[in-house]
Amino acid sequence: MSSTGTTARVLSGGPVAERILSEVAEGVSGLRAVGVTPALATVLVGDDDASAGYIRIKQRQAAELGFASPHVRLSGSASQADLHAVLADFNADRGVHGVLVQYPVPGQLDYDRALQVLDPDKDVDGLHPVNMGRLALGLPGPLPCTPAGIEALLAFHQVPVAGREVVVLGRGATLGRPLAMLLAQKRPTANAAVTVVHTGVADWPRYTRRAEILVAAAGVPGIVRPEHVRPGAVVVGGGVRYEGRRLLPDVDESCAEVAGAITPRVGGVGPTTVAMLFRNALEAARRSTGVA
Ligand SMILES: NC(=O)c1ccc[n+]([C@@H]2O[C@H](COP(=O)([O-])OP(=O)(O)OC[C@H]3O[C@@H](n4cnc5c(N)ncnc54)[C@H](OP(=O)(O)O)[C@@H]3O)[C@@H](O)[C@H]2O)c1
Repeated sequence: MSSTGTTARVLSGGPVAERILSEVAEGVSGLRAVGVTPALATVLVGDDDASAGYIRIKQRQAAELGFASPHVRLSGSASQADLHAVLADFNADRGVHGVLVQYPVPGQLDYDRALQVLDPDKDVDGLHPVNMGRLALGLPGPLPCTPAGIEALLAFHQVPVAGREVVVLGRGATLGRPLAMLLAQKRPTANAAVTVVHTGVADWPRYTRRAEILVAAAGVPGIVRPEHVRPGAVVVGGGVRYEGRRLLPDVDESCAEVAGAITPRVGGVGPTTVAMLFRNALEAARRSTGVA
């Protein structure tokens, strides 16, 4: 036991992301070798510093991996039609395989409506309704990045999932709902008994306390406390809220004293989410060009 009383094994996302990204880099160079340059386009609306910073990081990473990354920046007063026009151009451009619209967008714009204009095959976030449908049916398509990152994280750290009881706190469209679908699929790294709890389940700790794997996906800082965790369980912190640049996770750090394994406060699920974005872009390029 360390001086902080922490006993849980730490499930870092960094090495998982590194492995995924090195596979992506290999895949990209394979495509380039046959004359295909995979392209991940980015769209930024407005001049929010944090969003501009995130886009810059993704563009740098895209370039390092060998992607082309055309970029469009719209003014903060852009209309929904302006955003849709940019997406329609990228949809029509056969040289663009994936498109990322940086979230959040300014208040006058509806992000979900814009997402629906995007060609689902170019949706690297994997959140387009068609891709949610594909996920529900187990059809190939871009997977939602954070859920796919969590499955990869558990597999990398050799946490058995198949046949085990997984409880997901939260049924949001980005994380809880697609994660539940993903981990219930018939596959060695999934195949779990999944329960989803939310505000409609007043006594949700009754479920989380029996979970062998507990995933926090609520976006409520500190909602998961040690008394909600089965001793020795695996705890994955997916939900976060930002106050400015300060990250406030769902999982209280003291859960490490009860859990058998736990994602770190920073560097857990986040890096795997970003890695999955690039994997989706690579897969989109492979699918659209027919090059394996
Ligand atoms: N780490 C990453 O890279 C990453 C990436 C994407 C998203 N996220 C985070 O994931 C979280 C979830 O995002 P989302 O878009 O999927 O979800 P969301 O739409 O924000 O929904 C949150 C869910 O949590 C439930 N919930 C909220 N407060 C609760 C409470 N007190 N008791 C029980 N359930 C509660 C809600 O229940 P109801 O349905 O009943 O309202 C809802 O299902 C967010 O914090 C987001 O920031 C993290």
